[in-house]
Amino acid sequence: MSARLEIHCVPPMISSIDKIEEEALQGLGQMTDKAALEQWRIAWLGSKGRLKSLMADMKTCPPEDRPAYGQRMNALKKSLEAAFKAHRADDVAPAGPPLDVTEPGLPAGLGRQHILSRTIEEIIDVFSRMGFTVAEGPEVENEWYNFEALNMPEAHPAREPSDNFFLEGGGMLRTQTSTVQIRVMENSPPPLRIISPGRVYRPDTHDATHYSMFHQVEGLCVDRGVTLVDLKATLFHFARTFFGPKADLRMRPSFFPFTEPSAEVDMRMPVRGKMQWVELGGCGMVDPNVFKAVGYDPEEWTGFAFGLGIERIAMRKYGIPDIRWLFENDARFLRQF
Ligand code: DAH
Repeated sequence: MSARLEIHCVPPMISSIDKIEEEALQGLGQMTDKAALEQWRIAWLGSKGRLKSLMADMKTCPPEDRPAYGQRMNALKKSLEAAFKAHRADDVAPAGPPLDVTEPGLPAGLGRQHILSRTIEEIIDVFSRMGFTVAEGPEVENEWYNFEALNMPEAHPAREPSDNFFLEGGGMLRTQTSTVQIRVMENSPPPLRIISPGRVYRPDTHDATHYSMFHQVEGLCVDRGVTLVDLKATLFHFARTFFGPKADLRMRPSFFPFTEPSAEVDMRMPVRGKMQWVELGGCGMVDPNVFKAVGYDPEEWTGFAFGLGIERIAMRKYGIPDIRWLFENDARFLRQF
């Protein structure tokens, strides 16, 4: 085999560009006034500058090497332009008074927990003392967890597109934390007791009591021989621990697809100086169809479930009249709590 001398312009040229770049940047570092900086710009980036002539050298490369050379040149151009900009910004930044390191600093403001986070912790605290553990589920859900497994068939009115945030390409933002009931039961055998606080999403128009994102806490207890009395005792105990021993509660018959029978829980409390019944949330005995969907035997297992609105609970407890204030991040409001 005869030895052939391969002459490529790229390896030597590319490495020489590294040197050229170094030279340019070093030079730039030495330009301390505006006039010098401008001279540097003309010399390197100007229309008859070094960069232009290096670009023109591309013609001397063999065609197969041109792309690599071109790429390196583009990188060089970007690098020099960015360095020039940064240097100029340093140069023209207002000088300001010299720094006096002996001056006392500004006190760093102490942050605090958001009132909703605190409410969630307080809720968890009460339920954990009754043997409930916290379970979490995703906010981006699918229709099995948000509807189907919760005994809400295809034609259920709550599945209308206008009441949900469906996502392009499938999936949806969950509208209720009841999804977590299903996820937990699918993954663990009975008996169990969980609560699940978290965000939910509904296309509501924002006003004093509605927001398109809010928080719920779901509760689920599954065991043998669970009755409505257990449900009532649990919720009433929660309310009296949370709001005080005088909290007066009632349950009203209602309907939810995933519980049978179902009820709404109200609490009697002062609203603008007048005692009124206000709704805390929904609850009921787990529907046998839900047990079937997760593979629990409804002949053997019984359970109760509930779902409470966390904003409502916080607004009631702390006398907040407008839900929007919770999400505006106005420190003047938030620091009151
Ligand atoms: N998921 C219901 C809602 O968002 C609230 C609810 C009602 C949850 C009854 C439950 C329940 O677990 O049993 O309106």
